[in-house]
Amino acid sequence: MKLLSVVGARPQFVKLAPVHRAIAQAGHKHVIVHTGQHYDRNMSDIFFEDLEIPEPDVNLGVGSSSHGVQTGAMLGALEATFVLEKPDWLVVYGDTNSTLAAALAAVKLGIRVAHVEAGLRSFNRAMPEEHNRVLTDHCADLLLAPTAVAAAHLQREGLADRTRLVGDVMVDVFRSVQSAAATKLIVRGDIAPALKGPFYLATIHRQESTDDAAHLAELIDGLAMLDTPVLLAAHPRLLAKAMEHGIQLERGAIRLREPLAYAEMVAALGMCAGVITDSGGLQKEAFLAARVCTTLRTETEWVETIDSGWNALVADIRMLPETVARPVPSVAPTEPYGDGAAGVIIVDEIGSFVPQGSA
Ligand code: UD1
Repeated sequence: MKLLSVVGARPQFVKLAPVHRAIAQAGHKHVIVHTGQHYDRNMSDIFFEDLEIPEPDVNLGVGSSSHGVQTGAMLGALEATFVLEKPDWLVVYGDTNSTLAAALAAVKLGIRVAHVEAGLRSFNRAMPEEHNRVLTDHCADLLLAPTAVAAAHLQREGLADRTRLVGDVMVDVFRSVQSAAATKLIVRGDIAPALKGPFYLATIHRQESTDDAAHLAELIDGLAMLDTPVLLAAHPRLLAKAMEHGIQLERGAIRLREPLAYAEMVAALGMCAGVITDSGGLQKEAFLAARVCTTLRTETEWVETIDSGWNALVADIRMLPETVARPVPSVAPTEPYGDGAAGVIIVDEIGSFVPQGSA
């Protein structure tokens, strides 16, 4: 069987790692296509190297632009690639513009589509990712849901027949890097000094956080005024938007750093006093590392982290100091995300897929 994965943005490289390993172990052919949505070394290459993913077979070099221009450029280039490669399955990951473009190009060529991380919903229609997820789920053939909550969303949307509950591939990769990190810690030079003494680990990158100047200024002021140092690992979008809006990032409690490589992030999670973020993946990684997380959003797709108190939403930034300083929950995090074997289960599900009506 020939599988073709399309990835383009940083969190997708992380999700690709365990799926690639399982595909190779099962003896299937795997073609990796990178759209080029993310292209800086520390947003892309470093993940392939550290997570031992082979270099992409194809890099479309699409780069940054507005949603329509970026997604449209991917759509045309992916269609040409699929026509040449003729895969049995397309595998897409998460909710980025690369995910949607690939799913749409494939279904129109009659290529089967498997969606890893299907069924997540924020129910916030102002988020570009919400549209990417919903549209990808509704056109894909096999919906690989990470959690029971995600599977229930798909059932409510009439997609139960195509849904399989497989667990979350981010657990696979997190646990394997966490155990490797205990013996071989990959921490590159410039974050090491900031990791001495108590600190909060913070990231901000979403369009909803960065694009409105007044809102971004409030978020940065909130971090700067905390009484514990904040290691802010800055996504290039945050740097670009802060410069555009004339907002200074490095001030008060904030220690500005480049985006962290995956193992650095896992190591930093193990050492931090808590996490402050608008990222989906980092909320869950904090939960897996048993670190209290404060999410700078009005809702989250990862509701399991909220139920147990390990994660809390902060819509009003004035609540940040007391929220980050809340006591650690007395109950250890549960395991709603599976046991770290999702990559293998996903490849089994793809291999044993029987289309509807042909059983
Ligand atoms: C994208 C995804 C988002 C995901 C995030 C992970 C969509 C709609 N959004 O958002 O779901 O959580 O990736 O990081 O697909 N830039 C660089 N270098 C890079 C990449 C980006 O400088 O290597 C800058 C550019 O200024 C660019 C901006 O970041 O315009 C935004 O990049 P883009 O890929 O459009 O979206 P993300 O915000 O990264």
